[in-house]
Amino acid sequence: MRWAILGCGQMSSALVLGTQGSEDFSGENFFCFDPIVERAQDLADQIGGSYYSRWEELPAADIYLLGCKPQHFKDLASSIHASLPATASLLSIMAGVSVEIVRGQLGSQRAVVRVMPNRAALLGMGVHALFCSSNTSDDLLSEVERFIGASGEIFLFDSEEMIDRITGVSGSGPAYLFKLAEELAAKLVEMGISRRTANLMVAQTLLGASTMLVNNPHDANQLKDSITSKGGVTQAALEVLDRGGFDQLISSALDAAYQRTKEL
Ligand SMILES: NC(=O)c1ccc[n+]([C@@H]2O[C@H](COP(=O)([O-])OP(=O)(O)OC[C@H]3O[C@@H](n4cnc5c(N)ncnc54)[C@H](OP(=O)(O)O)[C@@H]3O)[C@@H](O)[C@H]2O)c1
Repeated sequence: MRWAILGCGQMSSALVLGTQGSEDFSGENFFCFDPIVERAQDLADQIGGSYYSRWEELPAADIYLLGCKPQHFKDLASSIHASLPATASLLSIMAGVSVEIVRGQLGSQRAVVRVMPNRAALLGMGVHALFCSSNTSDDLLSEVERFIGASGEIFLFDSEEMIDRITGVSGSGPAYLFKLAEELAAKLVEMGISRRTANLMVAQTLLGASTMLVNNPHDANQLKDSITSKGGVTQAALEVLDRGGFDQLISSALDAAYQRTKEL
């Protein structure tokens, strides 16, 4: 199938690059389009695809990936609406933009698959939540699953509401861990450890903990208990987090993310 990538930013590029180890996807079947032509060119050069800065020049494709920011979608839709091939399907990665909104702008009968990807797709370790319109064919779904699955794990949902709720966890989640990493490293630096060493120690700590969790995904609580001895160092720190309302803070942060998703 031929893919048109509309908006060659960080996320869509990560997804496209993820496919390049797979025999199912040849670079020449990707048509890269971005108002900033250097971005389209950069992606196309990496995969052996073609690039365009003008919509009118784009060859017809089977699947159009909507990869711009939500606030640019209306502009994108108004440029492409009239000449989008009647049989083309859409894959949207835009946070907070419903299938209904996409169809409202680009055709009420179009098959639309919505995915909430995450940035670890760059490493083939993405978390991709998927929802599709009821007229999505099995062929389209399996093509999209091959595309998305090349850069991460797929979680298919039959309620679009879940995609909005999940956005604040899997889409934004890496940012919370980077924030935690920043704070942990800052404390090590304050203790006199070099910035470089501090950053490496924290990164390795998170990697080790994540790997333990991946091997035991149902047991975060048990893993936590296994390194928390009564009256010990970890417990002292965790008690401060509890007293500071850590659980409530995380819950409120996720509520704010959900609220923002709905506003977009
Ligand atoms: N980044 C993430 O971790 C992440 C995670 C989950 C979902 N997403 C979703 O992925 C989408 C892209 O995010 P991103 O971080 O990759 O953003 P980004 O790097 O800014 O990429 C968006 C690209 O789309 C281009 N664009 C703007 N208007 C366009 C138009 N009319 N037609 C075609 N392209 C247009 C932008 O150009 P300009 O810079 O000139 O505007 C930019 O090159 C967003 O909708 C976001 O919600 C991102």
